[in-house]
Amino acid sequence: MKRIFIKDKLKSLDTNIEDVPLGVFDEIGEYCAKKARQPTNKYYNSAGCFFRPNYERGILIDSMVRRYRPKSLLEIGFGRGYWSMCAAMSMTNNRIDGTIDSIDVSYDKTHLDNMEKIFPKNWLSKMKLWEGTSLEVLNNHMPDKTWDIVYIDGAHTYDAVIADFKAIMNRTNMFVIFDDYYFEMDETAPDIQVRQAVDDAVLWDKELIHMDRLIFSDDRESWRSNEDLEKMKSSTYGQVIARNPAFNG
Ligand SMILES: C[S@@+](CC[C@H](N)C(=O)[O-])C[C@H]1O[C@@H](n2cnc3c(N)ncnc32)[C@H](O)[C@@H]1O
Repeated sequence: MKRIFIKDKLKSLDTNIEDVPLGVFDEIGEYCAKKARQPTNKYYNSAGCFFRPNYERGILIDSMVRRYRPKSLLEIGFGRGYWSMCAAMSMTNNRIDGTIDSIDVSYDKTHLDNMEKIFPKNWLSKMKLWEGTSLEVLNNHMPDKTWDIVYIDGAHTYDAVIADFKAIMNRTNMFVIFDDYYFEMDETAPDIQVRQAVDDAVLWDKELIHMDRLIFSDDRESWRSNEDLEKMKSSTYGQVIARNPAFNG
């Protein structure tokens, strides 16, 4: 599979990293993605308690929205809403009259209420949230819908990732993005089997984007201070973008 650094991928999408307002993504992430380390974590003392888990995924979808102008997005696995808020902001900023469907098995209603107080109404109005498992919702509530870009970030077992891909592969016009592709098994997360699933079942043209704390540096070295090749070797995590062979944009 082709491999590329996030900053080079952004460049290929006509985004210069120096022009990206990192603070905007940081603000969205503050409510929707920020995580805390336990005091027992080896980085708690050296890098701090709070960290920004792959905030680069928001920068990537913003760049893809600007470049491809999708009208419809689907996210499997809403979580706390970071990806979909970044996408909604981007659609709004780029004057795209589009929608974002997002599916999750359950939502924290207090969190959703807080999001309504924090984020602009014109971002939120692009969102449609669906509660249930991905397959239930896709089969029973949206059996005929298609999307330009689909983001698979729900259940991460081998069978679940393949089932999600099979459910949407004929309903995706441009790209499917897979989160959490670890190319070495992460011992702390044995249920994350995205790599095996993507390698075995996704036969579309694929590109692995090396990311996560490579722009928002934290417990990792900043890309600014490292040679790309060295960084690439030590980076073991990314997202995979698979392109529908019928899409030639
Ligand atoms: C890593 S979080 C998603 C983060 C979010 N995509 C983002 O980028 O901010 C994964 C979410 O998937 C949801 N999930 C797990 N299994 C699912 C399934 N079968 N169908 C739908 N959602 C699922 C979990 O409840 C969890 O909220």
